[in-house]
Amino acid sequence: MSFDRSIKIAPSILSADFANFGAECAAIEAQGCDWVHVDVMDGHFVPNITFGPATCAAIRPHIRGVMDVHLMIAPVDPYIEAFARAGADIITAHAEAGPHIHRTLQAIRGAGAKAGLALNPGTPAAMAAPLLDMVDLVCVMTVNPGFGGQKFIHSQVEKVAELRAMIGDRDIHIEIDGGVDPETAPLVAAAGADVLVAGSAVFKGGSVHDPAPYGANIRAIRDAAEAACGAGAGAK
Ligand code: DX5
Ligand code: ZN
Repeated sequence: MSFDRSIKIAPSILSADFANFGAECAAIEAQGCDWVHVDVMDGHFVPNITFGPATCAAIRPHIRGVMDVHLMIAPVDPYIEAFARAGADIITAHAEAGPHIHRTLQAIRGAGAKAGLALNPGTPAAMAAPLLDMVDLVCVMTVNPGFGGQKFIHSQVEKVAELRAMIGDRDIHIEIDGGVDPETAPLVAAAGADVLVAGSAVFKGGSVHDPAPYGANIRAIRDAAEAACGAGAGAK
């Protein structure tokens, strides 16, 4: 994975057909997404359950690009190796998931993956400051994690700007997760985000049998975001 700050659209397969993950991953990539975002939930850290490392391993061969695994689980550390073995390129853990996030980030890199740090809406940007040498990505949650299709929390845009200033020249992505659509994408892109996760706004209107709406939805989000961060942001 090489680093750049161009806008990247990462559809969340939380909004895909759960009986058809392989074909859904292939469809969104064929329709122009950049990364595939995989939401792992445990019914404990968040009030919803999705799937674990076996599903990640099963879908890996259907993803040509980056598999971006977002762990909404606690504890995290006992499962890091399994998600790395499943082929995750990026493993993101929550700052709120345990008392030793520094150790968790070390373990993620130790397992050979890029390390992401996710911040819930109630967690300040300052939480990331002592961890910047340990992370490849900071994920700003713009909804409370657990479900797709929630409303974007506008107060998080200021947090994105704070993180962008804090990160400076470091090769760290700022990812936005929750409620991203063509209306909200420009707000976070202008504030400095480069990876936009979107579930419902990408998958709406399409299916593996009719994937063209996925492409139109991805383009609409990308175009809105790129327009907000100025010309030249389009290079992949
Ligand atoms: C929320 C998940 C998100 C979510 C995004 O807990 O981490 O990835 O599914 O879905 P939308 O785009 O529908 O808010
Ligand atoms: Zn997510």
